Amino acid sequence: SLLYYNHAWCAASLSQTINQVAASRQKHTLPDLPYDYGALEPHINAEIMQLHHSKHHATYVNNLNVTEEKYKEALAKGDVSAQVALQPALKFNGGGHINHSIFWTNLSPNGGGEPQGELMEAIKRDFGSFQKMQEKMSATAVAVQGSGWGWLGYEKESGRLRIVACANQDPLQGTTGLIPLLGIDVWEHAYYLQYKNVRPDYIKAIWNIINWENVSERLQTAKK
Ligand SMILES: *[C@@H]1O[C@H](CO)[C@@H](O)[C@H](O)[C@H]1NC(C)=O
Ligand SMILES: *[C@@H]1O[C@H](CO)[C@@H](O)[C@H](O)[C@H]1NC(C)=O
Ligand SMILES: *[C@@H]1O[C@H](CO)[C@@H](O)[C@H](O)[C@H]1NC(C)=O
Ligand SMILES: [Fe+2]
Repeated sequence: SLLYYNHAWCAASLSQTINQVAASRQKHTLPDLPYDYGALEPHINAEIMQLHHSKHHATYVNNLNVTEEKYKEALAKGDVSAQVALQPALKFNGGGHINHSIFWTNLSPNGGGEPQGELMEAIKRDFGSFQKMQEKMSATAVAVQGSGWGWLGYEKESGRLRIVACANQDPLQGTTGLIPLLGIDVWEHAYYLQYKNVRPDYIKAIWNIINWENVSERLQTAKK
């Protein structure tokens, strides 16, 4: 089938987020982009990048800050039902913050082409060729229903790469050890202003700006 949803993983990666969020003691801040808003043109225009980073990502961070504050108050008061009620907002905003922080570093004005070394070997082993991996990931990202993400991840148990789709409303349950290496944001805010509703054209263009060095670095870290 065209769809490679893995709800357990999408959810597990979110529960990991919650742990990271819960472990943090400071406020979260919006990370700077490692390039200018216009640097990814013509593939993603400056207007999209500016809105996506300074409005959408910033809103996740602000709401995460606010929700964490309320959560700490609920903890201090021993108010369990308030803690439970705050979980969805923690997950949503924590997930949004982590996902976008990965996404920005997965892209580069000097990106594109093909990966090298160990990452390329792993792609060939697990998908047959770079082109087959690209086709599978494109098809998966295009087919996400509504808002969501296409991910290339490293599965710790098997030592293999896998491609999955995550829809926005994935439930929180299950545990699998897939570590995100490359994420493609397919929410409309990521492409609509330039590509309108033609998501496949956005996906086709994004391959020109993938920062394979960053993806390789994430694979090295994941294998440790
Ligand atoms: C998160 O909250 C802190 C404290 O309210 C604030 O200083 C920081 O700017 C917030 N992050 C963003 C991206 O607004
Ligand atoms: C973040 O990514 C996870 C998968 O890792 C996905 O399930 C979730 O919907 C995403 N959240 C946002 C707000 O983009
Ligand atoms: C990849 O992303 C990580 C985490 O954000 C960052 O620390 C690192 O510098 C990036 N590496 C490259 C080569 O872009
Ligand atoms: Fe986004």
